[in-house]
Amino acid sequence: MFIDNHLATILDGQKLSLLVQEELKAKINEKIALNYRKPSLDVILVGDNPASQIYVRNKIKACLNCQINGNVHNFAKDASFFDIKAKIIELNENPQCDGILIQLPLPKHLPSQEILSLVNPDKDVDGLHPYNLGLLLNDNPNLYPCTPYGIMTLLNHYNIELEGKLACVIGRSNLVGKPISILLSKQNATVTLCHSKTPDLAKIARSADILIVAMGRSNFINHEFIKNGACVIDVGINYIEDNSGKNKITGDVLFSEVSKIADFITPVPGGVGPMTVSMLLKNTFKAYEKNLSS
Ligand SMILES: NC(=O)c1ccc[n+]([C@@H]2O[C@H](COP(=O)([O-])OP(=O)(O)OC[C@H]3O[C@@H](n4cnc5c(N)ncnc54)[C@H](OP(=O)(O)O)[C@@H]3O)[C@@H](O)[C@H]2O)c1
Repeated sequence: MFIDNHLATILDGQKLSLLVQEELKAKINEKIALNYRKPSLDVILVGDNPASQIYVRNKIKACLNCQINGNVHNFAKDASFFDIKAKIIELNENPQCDGILIQLPLPKHLPSQEILSLVNPDKDVDGLHPYNLGLLLNDNPNLYPCTPYGIMTLLNHYNIELEGKLACVIGRSNLVGKPISILLSKQNATVTLCHSKTPDLAKIARSADILIVAMGRSNFINHEFIKNGACVIDVGINYIEDNSGKNKITGDVLFSEVSKIADFITPVPGGVGPMTVSMLLKNTFKAYEKNLSS
């Protein structure tokens, strides 16, 4: 129910992300002062999806901000599996390359899982190689998937209590839903993982102290899904046309309603998105340190 004059505290992913980048930049500058080379991230971008192009541009900009070399390898939208495989093998073998990112989604004709599996797990800075996801399950993570890592960093930074809390995750992708469920459970939340076949989704969501939404459905989650005082993390990024025909980014959560009931909420843009980018850079630095010492 709406509470008069109540407004949730914003979990400011933009601000925290810049803080993380400042800390990282200082560490990288220390390395450079000791005459080490800069870390290096290689991004494989296939096709001309406008959203992917924006994401890659933002990632490269953040790399530059942190003294990380960011290289983009562009492929046409009809590129073959073998073209991409050859590039990944070349980057796997290049000692100057620390991290490899396959920008998703790939065009439909390409087998995403098979392509992700080709990346050397030590250079898998997106944390999506089956080996790294397996280590996550085994309580021995190497490189965390960036978006769940960013969400956990945000929750922990704002001291959101997780132990003993009920968490509901909506969306079960390998990219977000499944790994964030594992990470929340590791911090002793009790997690329900929901999807498009879940009956009475609003009732389950309404029981949750922590609600993580990663559906890709613009403004789907309204007040009916929210418990008073909940913490709501909106992972969704949707491009819609507003009334004047302009493109606009929205989340999966109807911010104007939900922020009047929840105690904490992430905005879109400025919430999980920037955190994802900063975790990519943290993973790249981790991979770089391991690469230097090998
Ligand atoms: N902020 C960031 O950095 C970031 C990073 C990654 C993704 N994203 C965004 O997060 C969203 C989700 O991404 P994703 O890759 O996880 O998407 P995805 O692979 O398409 O998965 C969407 C999930 O939502 C579930 N779902 C869809 N409609 C539903 C409904 N009506 N009721 C209940 N569940 C429903 C689907 O259920 P089924 O499994 O049953 O189909 C699926 O599990 C997208 O908007 C994406 O752009 C943002």
